[in-house]
Amino acid sequence: MSAAVLYTTKYGAAAKCAAILQEKAIKPLIVVNIKDNPHFDIQPYSKVILGASVYVERIQREMTSFCRRNEKQLLLKQIGLYICSGDKGRAGRGYLKLFGKEIHSHAVSRKLFGSEIYWHKMNMVEKLAMRVIKKSTASSSDLDMKAIQELAVEMGLLN
Ligand SMILES: Cc1cc2nc3c(=O)[nH]c(=O)nc-3n(C[C@H](O)[C@H](O)[C@H](O)COP(=O)(O)O)c2cc1C
Repeated sequence: MSAAVLYTTKYGAAAKCAAILQEKAIKPLIVVNIKDNPHFDIQPYSKVILGASVYVERIQREMTSFCRRNEKQLLLKQIGLYICSGDKGRAGRGYLKLFGKEIHSHAVSRKLFGSEIYWHKMNMVEKLAMRVIKKSTASSSDLDMKAIQELAVEMGLLN
């Protein structure tokens, strides 16, 4: 059973999560940045994990376009979804629907992987927003390793 993780990221947290899943998987797991490969062919893969990060309540438009274009094919596969976001509550769970409602309902695993803040990579506006929202001016890591493990199990990457 071939599997692929397709992700989009702005600063790297969602990419890091894809790499962690790849390390955990006992069989080869292809990892693809959809911003670099918007027309990646998912046909050969029976399991597809989609991951993205949230900025001002939205995931990357490259991911939403990819999901729209490939929805029919995706709905024939085993799908896992993950989101990197600061919010791990109700709003966070709502972000999982940003891949598309049908894809969300079809997914066998849906997880919030938490967040990382890369202060040095952010622009002035983002730094200002972080100062106001998080009251912090530092990089931080708050990834949920348990959620990453659960997705790996639920997607059958470990057996
Ligand atoms: C300017 C800015 C806006 C953000 N907006 C949201 C948001 O609306 N909701 C949320 O839960 N997290 C938000 N976050 C947190 C990011 O989703 C989080 O840092 C994530 O790990 C980024 O992943 P990436 O490095 O893969 O892009 C925001 C972060 C920044 C810097």
